[in-house]
Amino acid sequence: MLAIIGGSGLTTLSNLDVSHREVVRTPYGEPSGAVVFGQICGQPAMFLPRHGYGHTIPPHMVNYRANLWALHHYKATGVISVASVGGIRGDLQPGDIVLPNQIIDYTWGRKATYFDGNGTPVTHVDFTEPYDHELCRRIQQAGEQLQVDIKVGGVYAATQGPRLETAAEINRLERDGVDLVGMTGMPEAVLARELGMPYAAINVVANHAAGRGSSANGIHFESLDVVLQEAMGRVKAIIEKLVGCQDAGQSA
Ligand code: HPA
Repeated sequence: MLAIIGGSGLTTLSNLDVSHREVVRTPYGEPSGAVVFGQICGQPAMFLPRHGYGHTIPPHMVNYRANLWALHHYKATGVISVASVGGIRGDLQPGDIVLPNQIIDYTWGRKATYFDGNGTPVTHVDFTEPYDHELCRRIQQAGEQLQVDIKVGGVYAATQGPRLETAAEINRLERDGVDLVGMTGMPEAVLARELGMPYAAINVVANHAAGRGSSANGIHFESLDVVLQEAMGRVKAIIEKLVGCQDAGQSA
């Protein structure tokens, strides 16, 4: 069963025909909320809002280990992470949908592994390719079938947040080869890998990154809701198509 983790702009999945919710206690504490189960066009799916149902959990406080453990517990066969980002690469505009293929992790102090002692053998997972190829291919194909534009490929930087970056930090990220920046992609991606769950991200560009384009003089996050809402409609259509809905996008 596919799992979807929703971020800012996607706190509920309106195309999910909900059957039930489950609250699970994990060895790592509580997930961000109850896992919601249901069907998208008859296909089973589960949903978890990363920041909680009231959007109250900031990126550095999300219990990523509990979230991924819960999805694994419920036998998720793949995880699609939906998250908003700031665009650094010149061609990225607010509202664009991006399928990143690489990650640089700038976060600190987050519990980023399940292999942290406590009798577990020292384990180093391969993370050369952080996103699952097959899941990315399915997302890309769904976009093509719907003629919804997806920018394929890009280096995602995970920053600590919750503050946005300075213009100089964005310049440094660009020198590092970063294309888009968000606050939640790590350790989410590596924890999915540690649990053996295929993981891919659909990123929605909410704004030009600090100091760039329309953010040259600052980022006014509140005003980004309209962009995000419209783009999330396209993201939902992509997810519907990917699970096999014939009329994907009709309700978006
Ligand atoms: N920076 C970091 N995270 C973000 C941004 C940004 O500009 N926009 C949306 N999430």
